[in-house]
Amino acid sequence: MYGLVNKAIEELVTSSYGEDKWRAIKEKAGVDVEVFISNEGYSDEITYQLVGAASEVLCITVREVLIAFGEHWVLKTALHGYGAMMRSGGSSLKEFLINLPNLHTRVQMIYPALQPPRFECQDLTDSSMSLHYFTHRPGLTDFVVGLVQGLGKLYNTPVMITVAALKTEGADHDVFDIHWTLPTA
Ligand code: HEM
Repeated sequence: MYGLVNKAIEELVTSSYGEDKWRAIKEKAGVDVEVFISNEGYSDEITYQLVGAASEVLCITVREVLIAFGEHWVLKTALHGYGAMMRSGGSSLKEFLINLPNLHTRVQMIYPALQPPRFECQDLTDSSMSLHYFTHRPGLTDFVVGLVQGLGKLYNTPVMITVAALKTEGADHDVFDIHWTLPTA
């Protein structure tokens, strides 16, 4: 994945837990990259190693790391670094999710070697939808949960996400049932 992803993990760790924890995580992960370059490609293995090591060093589950990372990605990385692109996604959670399938097509203009996930929205109502998530990468289900939670916060929209199907349990791909209420003031 592009270095941007590992850089975001670094930011999350250093801002919430400090530099020392980040150094300990890199050491445990066996990653000796001093500085991640956003637009350079790195093996996916590095990202998985960092997430696993973060779980051990910070004494939280991998699930908790991925959810925190998903929220951080939306509320910090994407919003601060790619604000215009995020804003063009829509003015409500529902609109953003409907436009989500196109988002990484735009991201690909900046990062041409991107191997993006694919999303499809189905069974849309005023307060719910099912979100279908297709990827060749294993283990990122909880990252998507965190991303959608982050989007709920971004749009001041309380959101509930339940996993309706899992690739790890034999489904073709992961499916999330998403319910939201009207934005809070
Ligand atoms: C403008 C904001 C965004 C940018 C710049 C961006 C960029 C990226 C990049 C660089 C990767 C790594 C893939 C690679 O390097 O091949 C990635 C992966 C991913 N992105 Fe985004 N992204 C953005 C917003 C979002 C949002 C809002 C979601 C919400 C669902 C999302 C979902 C994902 C997922 C789930 C992955 C993991 C890769 C996979 O599943 O195979 N992204 N994105």
